[in-house]
Amino acid sequence: MAGMEANNKRKANIAVLVSGGGTNLQALIDAEHSGIIKSGSIKLVVSNNRNAYALERAAKAGIASETVIRKECGSAEAFEDKLIEVLDAADIDMIVLAGFMSILGPKFIDHFRDRIINVHPSLIPSFCGQGFYGLKVHEAALSYGVKVTGATVHFVNEIPDGGKIILQKAVDVMDGDTPEVLQKRVMEQAEWIILPKAAELVAASITG
Ligand code: GAR
Repeated sequence: MAGMEANNKRKANIAVLVSGGGTNLQALIDAEHSGIIKSGSIKLVVSNNRNAYALERAAKAGIASETVIRKECGSAEAFEDKLIEVLDAADIDMIVLAGFMSILGPKFIDHFRDRIINVHPSLIPSFCGQGFYGLKVHEAALSYGVKVTGATVHFVNEIPDGGKIILQKAVDVMDGDTPEVLQKRVMEQAEWIILPKAAELVAASITG
């Protein structure tokens, strides 16, 4: 029966890489629980920051976590080697960067080619690339005076925020917005919606 086959299909093992609050991780966890993500399962959360609240979110959801600290690894190469080791040990098929504030190098990207996605809080190609992360993106959008911003989920390649776009969603900028207010609106109206959807699309394509 086709339905049976669909239910028995192998799920992609997903790792979520985080650095901070982890609201996008929470959206992914909630989406797996509600069935929006059905072709993959979050197996591991990896943080490059021991104090990330995202680690508590993982623990509360019963998801294994690891911490890999760039400074403790000595070099960028050793940091990436450690990340690869941790991810391969957990048999990870795809990686979601959800507020992961470290740029990954060619070795890591090549190891997981077309299996790494990232959420960015603007409509790429605006306000993206090196130096544009977190609140800085919203500060730049407000100082430019754009009336529409949004979020983008894209594949990760060697160009920061330069990989193929998977999903985007626009969000209005309102008079009087502060970077914090705009960040919250972009998260609520765009990031937390398109990141789980994109994760499902990629997981489904991996599991065939
Ligand atoms: C999110 O807005 C995410 O789009 C952004 O950091 C925030 C993390 O929040 N990522 C970048 O700017 C990457 N260039 P979260 O930890 O609550 O998910």
